[in-house]
Amino acid sequence: MAEALVLALRDLDGISPTVEERLHDAGIESVLELAAALPEEVAQVLGVSKERAYELIYSAQTALMDSGLLDKSFLSALDALERRKNLLKCTTGSKSLDALLRGGVETQAITELWGEYGSGKTQLCHTLCVTCQLSRKDGGFEGNGLYIDTESTFRPERLYQIAEARGVDPTMVLKNTFVCRVYNSSHLEFIVKNVGKYIEKYNVRLLIVDSVISLYRGEFTGRETLAERQQRLNKLLHRLLRIAEIYNVAVVLTNQVQSQPDMFFGDPNKPSGGHVMAHSCTYRIYLKKIGQDRKAIIVDSPYHPYSEATFSITDKGVVDIEDKRRGG
Ligand code: GTP
Ligand code: MG
Repeated sequence: MAEALVLALRDLDGISPTVEERLHDAGIESVLELAAALPEEVAQVLGVSKERAYELIYSAQTALMDSGLLDKSFLSALDALERRKNLLKCTTGSKSLDALLRGGVETQAITELWGEYGSGKTQLCHTLCVTCQLSRKDGGFEGNGLYIDTESTFRPERLYQIAEARGVDPTMVLKNTFVCRVYNSSHLEFIVKNVGKYIEKYNVRLLIVDSVISLYRGEFTGRETLAERQQRLNKLLHRLLRIAEIYNVAVVLTNQVQSQPDMFFGDPNKPSGGHVMAHSCTYRIYLKKIGQDRKAIIVDSPYHPYSEATFSITDKGVVDIEDKRRGG
């Protein structure tokens, strides 16, 4: 990241001191932030066409590519394979769930956890805030968690308990987890738009939004508002994917279920958010309560076949069922 910090916006082609000032006023302060910005907002801030905004964003991305911070647009398949080897993966706390994810939650991707209330989405997010801080050799990211809480369900006490039960310094874990309570969808969009600087400042490798959809569902009721809701959600998810790629962080989103009462066979639950969610999330994990335990099912993954895993929730957060039996 050092070179990106040295490179100022005004060092880029086409960015005069006045343009730089306007970008700063709009909260776009670094080359990384410009590279992750959306063309519409850059066009609006600078009063230029969308094409011109694209050029500026592209120039930021090229500068990052030249300094080796962002992958070149075209890679040989061999380089692409090499790049995948460099992705970071973080353990979920359960070996079985890690195996389902082929190693854990991944950077440069959006992992969606969806399921009914009590299915363990928030508990998994809390566990990840602890495991992400572990060393790489222990399956962590050696980085910190940033938790965007839309439902007021983040509990520092629970984080403390999970860390302590796992033998990790709980005070350290709490000190290195950053929480932001958001109150409405515009607030969420504002926070996500400005999250880049906090990712760098706080050494964040895991960005959680729990839950991504509840605010939109609550605010956009009625059929006539559906198109706007989907557009706003689409923009938010695009931004999150760019953040995941440009800052090399794992984005984890929780999503609620939408029940299909007219379904007579099979599971009547499906994830909320329709095609917009389906197309934006890299991995979609369906969590279900099975008695006292939980089942995770992976669907729609670019390289995982349909598969299932079981896990449990204890004082340690997410664990394998055998761990729970052993009293873990
Ligand atoms: P919604 O946000 O309501 O949609 O549900 P969710 O999927 O986020 O559920 P959550 O992760 O909050 O799971 C709640 C369940 O986790 C509870 O029903 C308990 O079974 C379990 N749980 C929560 N806290 C603890 C705890 O401290 N210890 C143990 N053993 N289990 C817990
Ligand atoms: Mg929850």
